[in-house]
Amino acid sequence: MTYNLLQGKKGIIFGALDEHSIAWKTAERIYEEGGRFVLTNAPIAMRMGRIKELAEKTQSEIIPADATQVEDLNQLVTQSVEILGGKLDFVLHSIGMSVNVRKGNHYTQQNYDFTQKGWDVSAVSFHKVMQSLYQNDAMNQWGSIVALTYMAAQRVFPDYNDMADNKAYLESVARSFGYFFGRDKKVRVNTISQSPTPTTAGQGVKGFDGFIAYADKMSPLGNATALDCANYIVTLFSDLTKKVSLQNLYHDGGFSNMGISEAIMQKFMEE
Ligand SMILES: NC(=O)c1ccc[n+]([C@@H]2O[C@H](COP(=O)([O-])OP(=O)(O)OC[C@H]3O[C@@H](n4cnc5c(N)ncnc54)[C@H](O)[C@@H]3O)[C@@H](O)[C@H]2O)c1
Repeated sequence: MTYNLLQGKKGIIFGALDEHSIAWKTAERIYEEGGRFVLTNAPIAMRMGRIKELAEKTQSEIIPADATQVEDLNQLVTQSVEILGGKLDFVLHSIGMSVNVRKGNHYTQQNYDFTQKGWDVSAVSFHKVMQSLYQNDAMNQWGSIVALTYMAAQRVFPDYNDMADNKAYLESVARSFGYFFGRDKKVRVNTISQSPTPTTAGQGVKGFDGFIAYADKMSPLGNATALDCANYIVTLFSDLTKKVSLQNLYHDGGFSNMGISEAIMQKFMEE
């Protein structure tokens, strides 16, 4: 079902790697809802991923940009405004990576060069993206900026490792920059705290299968899928959510407010 919610809206989508990516599903849904956009990802992901397929399907141009590099971002932002024929209405930051997780370093045995790299990619990049949009005056009034996060920012999920700290920082940047973007440009900024989702980044977390099954059994509505997340993002980019800002919005089937579910209790009764 489509609702034409984004007719005439223009934006940038970061982070579509393959068809499992949350950003990929979001690009497809935005396109169906009438939105047009530039796709971007790190130059290395261009070689690994299948972003060209998505670009063809959604009639989009691709501009490579490393989200940690301010120059890349400035170029991306100014070129996108040119290509799309005007200022932007929406930006999706769907980027995350921890080198410590990739290398299997335990939280108590971090390599701090890796910690810093992961923090830059996963958290500071959101500040850099917004600073570039702000300084280039690239957003239309009542535009919307969204980044993706996870509840390990609030609660302990041991295997989420240093990504938990990165997400806490990311959520704080959304509030702090969201204030200035709202005050000066009438643009809203929010984070969506999404259920565990089987993507390349998600499956990099140790014990992901147990993790996702547990969350599903704990949530009264079950886990939110990547497509569910894409639909939620469409609403946040639409004119129906103009006054939602500085929020961390849980999109997790109810998981974040649960204590225990009968399905989980049952598992323990069996033992
Ligand atoms: N999958 C989950 O369980 C889950 C749950 C909650 C939140 N999230 C968040 O959702 C977002 C999207 O992740 P996903 O699950 O779709 O996985 P994904 O692996 O498909 O997407 C991550 C993207 O980050 C990009 N990226 C990495 N380094 C970059 C850089 N330097 N510059 C630009 N882009 C870079 C990758 O190329 C990739 O496209 C991330 O912020 C992730 O933390 C994921």
